[in-house]
Amino acid sequence: MSKEAMSSPADLARIANILICPKCSAQVKIQPDLILCAGCGAKYPIHEGIPFLARMGTANTWDGTTKDETNSKEYQEQYHEIEKAAEYNIEYKEIFLKRMSTAREYMLLRRLLKSQGRSGMLLELPCGGGRLSPQLAPFTNLLVEADIAEGQVLYGKKNVTSETPRIWMTASAFHIPFKDDSFDGTVCIRLCHHLPTANERERLIKELFRVSKRFVIMTFFDYHSLKNLLRRMRQPFDHKPPKMTMTVDEVRKQASENGAELVECPSLMSLSSGHRYALMVKNKP
Ligand SMILES: C[S@@+](CC[C@H](N)C(=O)[O-])C[C@H]1O[C@@H](n2cnc3c(N)ncnc32)[C@H](O)[C@@H]1O
Ligand SMILES: [Zn+2]
Repeated sequence: MSKEAMSSPADLARIANILICPKCSAQVKIQPDLILCAGCGAKYPIHEGIPFLARMGTANTWDGTTKDETNSKEYQEQYHEIEKAAEYNIEYKEIFLKRMSTAREYMLLRRLLKSQGRSGMLLELPCGGGRLSPQLAPFTNLLVEADIAEGQVLYGKKNVTSETPRIWMTASAFHIPFKDDSFDGTVCIRLCHHLPTANERERLIKELFRVSKRFVIMTFFDYHSLKNLLRRMRQPFDHKPPKMTMTVDEVRKQASENGAELVECPSLMSLSSGHRYALMVKNKP
């Protein structure tokens, strides 16, 4: 089977029994050009083998009483065009510091994934344009790559090849269209620090754990990092808005509230970056 054919609708049959509707969580039925919800009747189109399952929106979609004016809605719309996605992904190949941090990310991801053994199925959400997916692919039999932005998913599908079978889709990390415990693990890189409220960050982590049987790998921007300390010191002069951060203790607490342990939390580059990679492993029942 060719690599391109890996994303044909036929391959979606491999996830047919774990897919659910992102609106009502009912079982869905995969048809040739769309996915039909058996519960609420919602229809999700399939284009070029990519199901469009992203449910847009923030706290109002899971908690009708929350009226957060600050939210990540605008960010959800940033990469809908493939040209914007291309810009993002090409920068990571061309800018020296970004190339350095990507090399370190490769190394960290491989080390953390190796520590969890081989997976039957991994979910990468958000996958962006597939910048990191070749590092995940060797650790799983099937890789599901999802992002809220169709531009990113289209870019990744066109530009990143792999021997490992993959399925692409659009999906929101706030409404992951999969049943509980569908994946061995979920990898969520560089989304948390775009979420401006604790409510959104908690929802993200809860959803990642809901669909993961064994582990979650997630990055966050460390409040106590040198990078953030310098930013806070400069703030009275440059008036830049504060970063959207978490502390290691907050991440540990979130892991614990979801029945998991924060096992490791290495920084990406302690002097030049505030990002940390958190490996959180679910407690055995
Ligand atoms: C900084 S990029 C990181 C992409 C990829 N993980 C990487 O490291 O190259 C963040 C991605 O999150 C996606 N995104 C934003 N809000 C989202 C949400 N609620 N659910 C899923 N993806 C989201 C954006 O479209 C964007 O592709
Ligand atoms: Zn439904």
